[in-house]
Amino acid sequence: MNWFSCVVRAESDKIYGVQEEYVNDKRDNKINLSIGVFRDQNGQSFVPQSVINCEQMLFTKNCSKEYAPIEGFKDFRQSVAKFIYGEDSDVIINERHATVQGLGGTGSLRIGAIFLYELVSVNKTVYIPYQTWSPHNQVFSNSGFQIKHYRYWNQRTLNLDFEGLINDFENMIDYSVVVLHSIAHNPTGIDPTLDQWNQIIDVIQRKKLFPFLDCAYQGFASGDLQRDGVVNTLFAKRVNQMAIAMTFAKNMGLYGDRIGALSIVCQTKQEAHNVLTQLKAIIRPIYSHPPNWGALVVHHLLSDHHLRSQWFIDVNNMYTRIQDIRNQLINELNRLSDGKTNWDFMANQRGMYGFTGFSQTQVFQLKQQFAIYATLDGRINIAVINQNNIKHIAYAMHCIKLQIM
Ligand code: LMR
Repeated sequence: MNWFSCVVRAESDKIYGVQEEYVNDKRDNKINLSIGVFRDQNGQSFVPQSVINCEQMLFTKNCSKEYAPIEGFKDFRQSVAKFIYGEDSDVIINERHATVQGLGGTGSLRIGAIFLYELVSVNKTVYIPYQTWSPHNQVFSNSGFQIKHYRYWNQRTLNLDFEGLINDFENMIDYSVVVLHSIAHNPTGIDPTLDQWNQIIDVIQRKKLFPFLDCAYQGFASGDLQRDGVVNTLFAKRVNQMAIAMTFAKNMGLYGDRIGALSIVCQTKQEAHNVLTQLKAIIRPIYSHPPNWGALVVHHLLSDHHLRSQWFIDVNNMYTRIQDIRNQLINELNRLSDGKTNWDFMANQRGMYGFTGFSQTQVFQLKQQFAIYATLDGRINIAVINQNNIKHIAYAMHCIKLQIM
């Protein structure tokens, strides 16, 4: 008897599979532009100074290592909810939200997906943008949902396909769940304008869709954390019920601490209380309690006036570095191509990524010829680029684009 003879090899993860290939690559000049982790100008991993200061302050407090409540510390949940909706929002004043600590963005999305699938009488179809962050597909299909896509990126204009998006929204099955990236869309870096968001919400309301926002890059689109939260607050003002998965991995540099939150906006305080009890019932048999440390850091960073201001500046500095290097890359690409092709479309993109428009074959060539790793959808992490590698990356992208090999 062999229990595992039926176990076949699983497909690699679309993002971490690239990372694994990169690690196994023996070439000295290899560059990993796949994973979405911020790097400083020397290529080093980075923790914002405000977070370092906050952690040092917490070390002096001998924080308890006892279990957090299933739903996470109350202080953490309240400061995150205020951060998302604003202190004077109706959602906060009337306590119309059920907010739980989640294991990063992925864990928060997954708890939300299970809740919607198992307990809410929505249609069991979820609409996800095409393109999107690849795990969205598994998070929702593994929770039971049927996956459908709506148009987002127009490969011809290398920009948002707003007309296609609205058309697809109009044709969605009523009462379905729709996933939206609330800021700095991953991987395209293209967001709707505020006017377009309002049109999207109009259709959501008309079609009675349930919006599930994924917010992973707040602060990276404009450099201003508050301004980047505008879509979350707009939805909370205009729709009665919705969900948001928020992660602090990127904007606080707390990747490995797996700290995020799931917040569900309800119509009444009583409804929010019921929802919270169900979220706890989902969490308990999966991991029982969320980890303490990240929650302590996030709570103190959000609630201490001095640390919070310092964090806003840190995020603005990260944003500035990304935008500077993005512009340098575009200039270098345009210089090399000397009018043969134009890379200005990448200047409209915001957040951590550049979306090259490369096909899977071109991404493969980039890896084979130049040892440069991008995700298969043609996404590159701009924050990995620095003065030491920019010329090489630009040259490689130029050659691939014009097929000079
Ligand atoms: C990414 O998009 O590369 C990051 O969010 C890392 C991940 O977990 O996929």
